[in-house]
Amino acid sequence: MKNTSQYYTRTAQVLHWLMAIIFILAWIIGFYSGNFLSYEVDGSFKGDVISLHKNIATTIIFLVVVRIFWRYTHPAPELPNSMSPVMKKAAHLGHLGLYFMLLALPITGCLYSWSVGYPAPVLYLFNLPTLIGENPAVTAVVKPLHIWISWAAGLLLFGHIAAALKHHFIDKDNVLNSMLKRDQ
Ligand code: HEM
Repeated sequence: MKNTSQYYTRTAQVLHWLMAIIFILAWIIGFYSGNFLSYEVDGSFKGDVISLHKNIATTIIFLVVVRIFWRYTHPAPELPNSMSPVMKKAAHLGHLGLYFMLLALPITGCLYSWSVGYPAPVLYLFNLPTLIGENPAVTAVVKPLHIWISWAAGLLLFGHIAAALKHHFIDKDNVLNSMLKRDQ
C-alpha cells in the first residue's frame, strides 16, 4: 500500500504531536527526579514528582498501540527524491528506533515500579494491572535499562528534531510540513 499524498493523515499527525508532548514532558520530569531530587533532601516531593512522571508516561502504552496499528494501515508519505538512499535508510532506522523507545520506556518503567513494590498509575485515574511482584533481581536489570534507554531516547529525539528542522529550513523540502499540513 502506498501513500500518494505528500501529507500524513490527520490522525497520524494528532498522534505524533500528542505523543511528542507527552514523551518530552515525561522525559524532563523523569530526568529532573532522577538527577536533581533525592528522598533524603526532598522527601515526599520526590515521590510526588515520580508519581507525576508515571501518571503521564503510562498513557504512551495505549497511544503507541493505536499509533503502530495506524502506521501499518496508513503508510507514510514518500521521502523527498532529493534524499540519498543512505539518508532515506538512516531516516527509516531512526524512526524504527523511536518506535522502539516508545515501547521500551513504558515497559521498563512499569517493570521497574512493580519490581520495587509500587503501582503504575495512569492519569491519576487507575493503576495498570500489576504483572510482577516485588523482585530485587528484576529491579537490578530494569532500573539501569530504563535509565540507559531514556538517555538513548533523548539523543535520538534530539537528532529527530534537528533533522526535521534541517529539512524545513536548509533543504526547504516538505518533510516537516507533511506532519503539519493537509491536502487542500
Ligand atoms: C515515554 C515514557 C517514559 C520516558 C520518556 C521516561 C523517561 C525517564 C527518564 C529520563 C528518567 C530519569 C533517568 C535518569 O535517572 O537519568 C526516568 C526515571 C524513572 N522512570 Fe521513566 N520514563 C518513561 C516511562 C516510565 C513509566 C511508564 C514508569 C512507571 C510506571 C517510569 C518510572 C520511572 C521511575 C520510577 C524513574 C526513577 C525516578 C527517580 O529515581 O527519581 N517511567 N524516566
